[in-house]
Amino acid sequence: MSSTTLSAAITPESTIGALVAARPLLARFFERLGIDYCCGGKQTLAAACQRRGLDVPTTLALLDSTAAALAAGPAEVDAAAMGLGQLADHIEATHHAYLKAELPRLVEMADRVAAKHGWRDGRLPEVAAAVNTLAAEMTDHMRKEEKILFPLVREIEAGAADGFPCGSIANPIRQMEAEHESAGNLTAKLRLLTDGFTPNAEACNTHRALLGGLEEFESDLHRHVHKENNVLFPRALALAAAQPA
Ligand SMILES: [Fe+2]
Ligand SMILES: [Fe+2]
Repeated sequence: MSSTTLSAAITPESTIGALVAARPLLARFFERLGIDYCCGGKQTLAAACQRRGLDVPTTLALLDSTAAALAAGPAEVDAAAMGLGQLADHIEATHHAYLKAELPRLVEMADRVAAKHGWRDGRLPEVAAAVNTLAAEMTDHMRKEEKILFPLVREIEAGAADGFPCGSIANPIRQMEAEHESAGNLTAKLRLLTDGFTPNAEACNTHRALLGGLEEFESDLHRHVHKENNVLFPRALALAAAQPA
């Protein structure tokens, strides 16, 4: 496919999640437009554009005009080309490993900035509270995926999940999707509380490092949730449905 025809075969009815699954570099495009492609992956392109005050033809023209720049950026992993177990391994080795290292650092910085500068900016304690909640929720969430859902996905791929309790895997997947929604909402709240992760003139170095870390966290969360909500979970559900009861 030529890099100038990225919009080929994209219709207004295409869902955002499926588009990014088929063309991973679209993640960067939608991110720039502020279009939610992970938790909001089931919305159509037309609905997503309307929500952002954009029209579809202009958006597709913009896509083609930025295709070369998008392709020149760091490569996105093609999650749709991986086996299910391989994708679960990839998510653990990249996104989960990143979060386990980064969340304690973000909590430590957010607490420190709130304690030192909260007196002059009442939003900083709110930022610290949201970061603490997010870290606790994500840590618990990853533990459930690693101990319960991902092993089940690997068993389903191996064809060995017959008679598994929890109504195939629909229930744990629904629970994980609800938790993604909660993490997405908290992250959106952090973006609002920090004026889009923008430091003001008074911000100290720790505050600046915190905002940079939060912006990176947001971008990683979107990629992480996209791979689970729009690739891993639907494929695992389809595979489970195709297996004998
Ligand atoms: Fe995950
Ligand atoms: Fe998850």
